[in-house]
Amino acid sequence: MDQRLASPNADALLAWYDRHHRTLPWRVSPEDAALGVVPDPYHVWLSEIMLQQTTVGAVKSYFTAFVAEWPAVTDLAAAEEDDILKAWAGLGYYSRARNLHKCARQVVEDHAGRFPSSAAELKTLPGIGDYTAAAIGAIAFDEAVAVVDGNIERIIARLYHITEALPAAKRPIKEKMAVLTPTQRPGDFAQAMMDLGASLCSPKKPACGLCPFSGACEAQRAGDMERYPVKAPKKEKPTRRGAAFLIERSDGALWLGKRPAKGLLASMAQVPTTNWFDKREGEAFDLATALDYAPESLIFTKKVGQVTHTFTHFHLQLDVYHANTDQPAPTPEGWWSEPHAISGEALPTVFRKVVDFSEKTDD
Ligand code: ADE
Repeated sequence: MDQRLASPNADALLAWYDRHHRTLPWRVSPEDAALGVVPDPYHVWLSEIMLQQTTVGAVKSYFTAFVAEWPAVTDLAAAEEDDILKAWAGLGYYSRARNLHKCARQVVEDHAGRFPSSAAELKTLPGIGDYTAAAIGAIAFDEAVAVVDGNIERIIARLYHITEALPAAKRPIKEKMAVLTPTQRPGDFAQAMMDLGASLCSPKKPACGLCPFSGACEAQRAGDMERYPVKAPKKEKPTRRGAAFLIERSDGALWLGKRPAKGLLASMAQVPTTNWFDKREGEAFDLATALDYAPESLIFTKKVGQVTHTFTHFHLQLDVYHANTDQPAPTPEGWWSEPHAISGEALPTVFRKVVDFSEKTDD
């Protein structure tokens, strides 16, 4: 009783996309494409870098602000890195912002301001790995390459019942996507897969009845869609602990510093902080340790709160101490950020949470 499934049909997905695609600020819709509008590789690149590890909802306003401030790759290349970091603050994974600037400069200096048009060449640029090179190649230049992000992994693993666990399953998934990707409209096909993954082919309770691949999906036939993609168990993240010192002037200005140019949150702004200690590494953290790190000229008597934040590899718990002073420079390096300037500082989200404990915030 070999009931064969139909093969997944790229045209069926493209027809679905023509009717149901999302409208996104970086995207050329099929209707506009039919009128001769072509994608701007700068927009495609910028959006793809922002969308690495970040959701469409979070990216939209940042994308619009970047394009308003730096309308072309030449403008971004000429910008100050600090201004880019300020505009990026809150999006996370800040090495993306530094690589964005490097990449823009390289496109201007080595490629006369034009993005190279193949995934292979794109991959030589800073911040562009396999996925992003394929996405830009397909979407901006209609190169028929396999684009595989997390949503697409789920769709392909379901369609073909790929039982191997991620990350080992990445290879067979990519091979299947390569076979499925059409030579006509490969960019729309990739975006259609993304939209399908963001709507009908959801992680929980996928809407298989409405899916253009319905009847060609092995997981739908078996009824075990939610098992896919199979994932190797995750390692538990350790929790690091530390303290942050919120130093406030009587006019509400806050004392900020710049993080080192290398490492986590490199070159971003912060309030003075202790090291972040990991008990699993045998590093104890207590009040005495915290106060060892406190700026010498100040007395921190008040613990005003605690902030928690999760990074890629660890959770962080920061005790927030507060002191008032009108000293010109409470630590050797840093600056007073006046209340109206704080929202524009390159403060990563974890330090925004700390700053929210100040007595006066300008919001
Ligand atoms: N996720 C990553 N890239 C995307 C894109 N171009 N459109 C929608 N979602 C995405």
